[in-house]
Amino acid sequence: MNKYFEFYNPVKIIAGFKALPNLPFELKLIGVKSPMILTDPGVKKAGLLNKVLKSFYNTDIKPCDIVDKIPHDSSVETVNEISESFKKSGCDSLIAIGGGSVIDTAKGVNILVSFDDNELKKYEGAEIIDRELKPLIVIPTTSGTGSEATYVAVISDPKNNIKLAFTSYFILPKLALIDPEMTLTLPPKLTATTSMDALTHAIEAYVSTQNNPLSDAYSLTSIKLINENLVETIKDGNNQDGRFNLALASLLAGISFSNSMVGIIHSIAHALGGVMKIPHGLANTIILPFGMEFNLDKAYKRYSEISRYLGIFQPGKSEKENARALIARIFELREEIEKLTGLSLNLEDNNVKKDDFEKIAEKAMVDGSVIFNPKEFNKEDVINILERAF
Ligand SMILES: NC(=O)c1ccc[n+]([C@@H]2O[C@H](COP(=O)([O-])OP(=O)(O)OC[C@H]3O[C@@H](n4cnc5c(N)ncnc54)[C@H](O)[C@@H]3O)[C@@H](O)[C@H]2O)c1
Ligand SMILES: [Fe+2]
Repeated sequence: MNKYFEFYNPVKIIAGFKALPNLPFELKLIGVKSPMILTDPGVKKAGLLNKVLKSFYNTDIKPCDIVDKIPHDSSVETVNEISESFKKSGCDSLIAIGGGSVIDTAKGVNILVSFDDNELKKYEGAEIIDRELKPLIVIPTTSGTGSEATYVAVISDPKNNIKLAFTSYFILPKLALIDPEMTLTLPPKLTATTSMDALTHAIEAYVSTQNNPLSDAYSLTSIKLINENLVETIKDGNNQDGRFNLALASLLAGISFSNSMVGIIHSIAHALGGVMKIPHGLANTIILPFGMEFNLDKAYKRYSEISRYLGIFQPGKSEKENARALIARIFELREEIEKLTGLSLNLEDNNVKKDDFEKIAEKAMVDGSVIFNPKEFNKEDVINILERAF
């Protein structure tokens, strides 16, 4: 265990079915009257934007603007454009309704409008932002990124085929309103891959070089909730307990990795997103067990602790064998996902060619997550993992 650590999470969380009607009251507490609403076409089509707008009837909350066309894995250009309309519309805050793509776009817009700037790339990296931003309120509609409670924003830079990471305590939302009602419409494939993103956050944070007892507690609870609820919730998207538990798991994993960081699996997933446009959750679902196998010799004690927490630990067996049992459980989960959703969890069926490996590995090696992995790695190690996941 590390002898020194920092842990910070000041995000107010309100969670549960029927959390949404509390939104106007919460906005009043923050002092917000004229928020910009950000969402995307899928979320709007699922009727979720309307649910939020309805909660404003008979209140003095008047959205200054509604941006409902945010694309997947949104880019620096999108952020620049939206921030220009924010400045023109006299908005006082931002409300993000959506998954990580919408939430991270809102975080990017918040940086630009708060600094009255139009060049997002200036703020890339760690702790470049040095003062309070405008209030950001997040209503997640996927259970995956945990971005409602992370101090990270990931925004793509399509010109350079790379995903840029922005990290600062000031990026953290003011309020995370987690109403699992907002995730009931999430289709099985997205339910599966977004939850596997959360599982990857929790597992990578637990074995990261920055792990600490507080984020460990969040990670373990998250892993257990996903292990116990994912398959049942893919089978029945209206399973209310399952939806709530997955939403909590995503939140817990977000808080954990925001403080402990992620490792090789995210380095590769970010590169697969940047170079091959593979959605983030899917990329993690494909790479997770192979990244764990790579880390096994350095992380087996901690993998074995996780297996104990999940109730799959066998006392007669060694720590390494119990660590392998955890990896086997991840493979089993993936098989169930393939069976239930029709997804193919290999790189070949997701349009990756072996000729792309070199480019992907190069991008993975410059990702910010590299330094937090429990085991050092190089380009050849990444290529070996890509071969295994092919
Ligand atoms: N900031 C962070 O801490 C962090 C962590 C991990 C990932 N990310 C980033 O988040 C992004 C991925 O986010 P995501 O996995 O949440 O997916 P997403 O936001 O890209 O959404 C995926 C799709 O699901 C649809 N959708 C969302 N909610 C829905 C609902 N309830 N019903 C029906 N459809 C719905 C959307 O319209 C979209 O088409 C990536 O850019 C990734 O890099 C950020
Ligand atoms: Fe992630």
